[in-house]
Amino acid sequence: MAGAKAPRERGGYTEDVSAGQPEEHGLRFEVDGEIATITLDRPDKRNAQTFATWSALARIGDELPERVRVVVVRGEGPSFSAGIDLRMFTPEGVPGQGSFSSAARLGAAAFEQRLRQAQRGFLWLRRPEIVSVAAVQGHAIGAGFQLALACDLRIVADDVKFCMKEPALGLVPDLTGTKPLVELVGLARAIDICLTARTVEAGEALRIGLAEQVVARDDLDSAVHDKIAGLLSTNRDAATATKRLLQGARSRTLEEQCAAEGAEQAERLRALFSAQP
Ligand code: ACO
Repeated sequence: MAGAKAPRERGGYTEDVSAGQPEEHGLRFEVDGEIATITLDRPDKRNAQTFATWSALARIGDELPERVRVVVVRGEGPSFSAGIDLRMFTPEGVPGQGSFSSAARLGAAAFEQRLRQAQRGFLWLRRPEIVSVAAVQGHAIGAGFQLALACDLRIVADDVKFCMKEPALGLVPDLTGTKPLVELVGLARAIDICLTARTVEAGEALRIGLAEQVVARDDLDSAVHDKIAGLLSTNRDAATATKRLLQGARSRTLEEQCAAEGAEQAERLRALFSAQP
């Protein structure tokens, strides 16, 4: 992991995500109070991702300090992420991590296990206890697009270029991205975006719900900072309960959702007022 061979310390928290081949992780991880920042940090390779990147992401999720409320996922350099490391398509693959041709020879159970571990790196970003914010500039291709989709919110620079390139390469998107994509833009648009592998730029991303906000490239960090301030301004437990409600809304009937609202509110009222005389 570039720049993270030794444990880093910030805000009193020490984290070592250097298991495996550090240079293959391509991640930096910092915690500052209630804010955690994950930075894809191989700008010279446009933040290409490997299995080690996803294992490191999963481990960050496993060990995230309880006090963290907001997780920012960002990329160093001109691109958020150019997706999976293209060395995976070569016979040699990524040193220590194999290649697609070696993955093709795995049995179904072994492949499933490997993929699940990779997906674990993305899934925790949806936890109700946190809000994840992707700060996306330049290219977000394939695994990069899916990492942005794994986050709750996407604030993008005006040079953003989303592309679900997997079908053009003979693959399917399998890093948890298909469900949020359909939920955000609808089935027809998701089919269009994936099956043409076309590029979605900033204006369209905002219009179809892929991005919450578009800002000038130089304003991306300050826009994320402002969003974090807003997110931290609400009551933590109420925010967690509300996210839980919103996440469950799609799969419940209106009646079930009303009941879920009641149950969460009863719990909130108990927490807020039961301690009072
Ligand atoms: N894997 C490994 N290395 C990469 C990747 C990648 N996905 N993307 C870029 N790089 C490397 C390039 O090989 C180059 O390395 P070098 O300087 O040693 O030659 C360096 O990053 C810069 O790349 P350029 O192509 O020169 O940068 P540019 O800004 O012109 O283009 C772009 C950026 C458009 C992202 C281009 O690099 C690209 O198309 N990359 C491949 C995208 C891709 O197909 N990803 C896989 C998607 S499928 C999936 O993720 C499952």
